Parts: sequence; structure tokens; C-alpha cells
Amino acid sequence: MWMRSLVLSASPRRDGNSALLAKAAAEGLREAGHDCELVFADDVLKSLLRDCRKCRTEDGECAIEDDFRRVFLDLFLPADGVVVATPVYWYGMSAQLKAFFDRAFCYIAASYPRSQDVVRRMTGSGWGFFSARRKPSRLSQPASSTKFRNTAATSARHSSV
Ligand SMILES: Cc1cc2nc3c(=O)[nH]c(=O)nc-3n(C[C@H](O)[C@H](O)[C@H](O)COP(=O)(O)O)c2cc1C
Repeated sequence: MWMRSLVLSASPRRDGNSALLAKAAAEGLREAGHDCELVFADDVLKSLLRDCRKCRTEDGECAIEDDFRRVFLDLFLPADGVVVATPVYWYGMSAQLKAFFDRAFCYIAASYPRSQDVVRRMTGSGWGFFSARRKPSRLSQPASSTKFRNTAATSARHSSV
């Protein structure tokens, strides 16, 4: 079955571990027959969430002029599966990934005319989550880039995403 997926890489580093995982996941999904788009959060978001009550346009849309609207409405919502790859920053997701989810608020809030449809579509897709962090200790075996990449590609290929 032909499926659509979105892979979102949420590190500022284009040659880092999250990017490696994201590219491998996209490769695995494409091999599995998905129409898969790979997006870097830094390319999409030019601002953090603002006060939607004051900021949104009269028709309820996000007024921030960047690529979030297109990626969220045209790639994220229609996707059958979404994979996110984030570095661990201070024991959590990166600010870029958090900002992406925060910005979704504009379209989830009841003030947006089609918010119910947005929520329904967000909860209907499959999810994959990869996180990159520093190696735990010198004593443990560090994962090589190749092992990392192959694991991401294989799990993307075999997951229900
Ligand atoms: C601001 C910042 C905070 C970090 N916090 C953590 C952390 O809490 N735990 C951890 O294991 N690694 C932490 N790291 C290390 C990164 O998770 C690690 O270098 C990761 O591979 C970076 O991902 P990237 O290669 O995709 O950019 C931190 C790095 C930075 C720059």
C-alpha cells in the first residue's frame, strides 16, 4: 500500500547524529514504499510560539511568516507516519522539536475553525522516535555510525509507521 511519511530532524547540526538517524529512517521508509519527505526543523521555524489569541490572522491561521504552516498542514497532518529525530538536550528534546509541537497549538486550539479535524488527524498517524545523546560512559560500547544508521533504517522499514 502506498503511504506518506514525514521525517523531522530537530538538531541544528546537519552532519550530526539526529540527521544521520533521520536520513536512515527516510531511506528505510522509501525502501518500504513510502513517499517520504525529510525536513530539518531549523529550515521550517523562524520563531517560537507567540500569543495565538493576539497573533493569529482573522481566519484563524498562524500569522508567523515561516514554513511551519506548509509543513504542518501539508506534510505533517496528511502523513500516515511521522518520525522525529532529536538530540537529547538537558535530558529532554531539543528546543527546535519542542517549538514545532508548541507551534501546532495554533491549529489545535478551538479558535482555529478546523481544530477538531487537526486533532483527529494528529492522533491517527503512526509515530517513530529517535533520540541522539552523548555516549553514556567510557566503559560502555559506543555505537558506531554505521550501526546507528542501519538500526534506524531497519526499524523504519519494519515499523508500522
Ligand atoms: C545544549 C546541549 C545539551 C545536551 N544535553 C545532554 C543531556 O542532557 N544528555 C546527554 O546524554 N547528552 C546531552 N547533550 C549531548 C547531545 O545529546 C549529543 O551530542 C547529541 O549527539 C547531539 O545530537 P546531534 O548530533 O544530532 O546534534 C547535550 C548537548 C548540547 C549541545
